[in-house]
Amino acid sequence: MFDMSLLLCPGRPETLRTERLTLRPLKMSDAQDLFAYAQDPEVSRHVLWKAHRSIADSRRFLRAGIRQYRRGFPGSYAIVLNENGRMIGTIGYMWINSEFRSCEIGYSLSRDHWNRGLMTEALQAVIRHSFDTLSLNRVECQHEVDNPASGRVMQKAGMRFEGIMRQRIRNKNKYSDVAVYAVLQSDMPTAGKE
Ligand SMILES: CC(C)(COP(=O)(O)OP(=O)(O)OC[C@H]1O[C@@H](n2cnc3c(N)ncnc32)[C@H](O)[C@@H]1OP(=O)(O)O)[C@@H](O)C(=O)NCCC(=O)NCCS
Repeated sequence: MFDMSLLLCPGRPETLRTERLTLRPLKMSDAQDLFAYAQDPEVSRHVLWKAHRSIADSRRFLRAGIRQYRRGFPGSYAIVLNENGRMIGTIGYMWINSEFRSCEIGYSLSRDHWNRGLMTEALQAVIRHSFDTLSLNRVECQHEVDNPASGRVMQKAGMRFEGIMRQRIRNKNKYSDVAVYAVLQSDMPTAGKE
């Protein structure tokens, strides 16, 4: 999906800051923090990776993410809590289509930090970055229909529900229906203003 000849972003993603969070490139030293939450089957239930069984799985995950930067793909950010510097989740690009200027964003967060509005804060920052810095036109997210909290994050971040795609993905050995949300550059409150 990502066309290297139409590169929009020079490798490692630039760090984004919000009131409570720093979104920065993944580092191998995130392994311990990542393993602390990625071993939780409740966190991995609705994402395409399996719960990490050992810190080796977390290192493999980080290596794959960092390799994407080297290939020139912005990939995923580490979500870091400003108050204590701990890495508590990831958010990033599942794919970017340079020709159509569209992308899909995916995310996951440590269960200790759910329901505090943190992922909404992170998603808003990545959406803004996608339009303002990467000059994309359309940002998509999708969630399994039995994961309504994720749909709520998309709504709160200003995305619009576009429909259900039946058995769009196969996750943990079963097909899943997904709800698709998107926001366009022209939907943003500041669109067209200098
Ligand atoms: C989904 C996830 C990212 C949400 O992150 P978060 O930081 O808790 O999200 P927020 O606090 O910004 O918003 C969560 C919203 O969902 C709501 N919610 C929580 N559980 C819910 C449920 N079972 N049904 C409906 N809404 C629910 C919360 O009340 C909140 O909405 P509100 O602010 O209107 O009250 C987090 O739970 C997570 O990482 N889950 C595991 C990985 C995952 O599912 N990733 C998404 C794959 S598509």
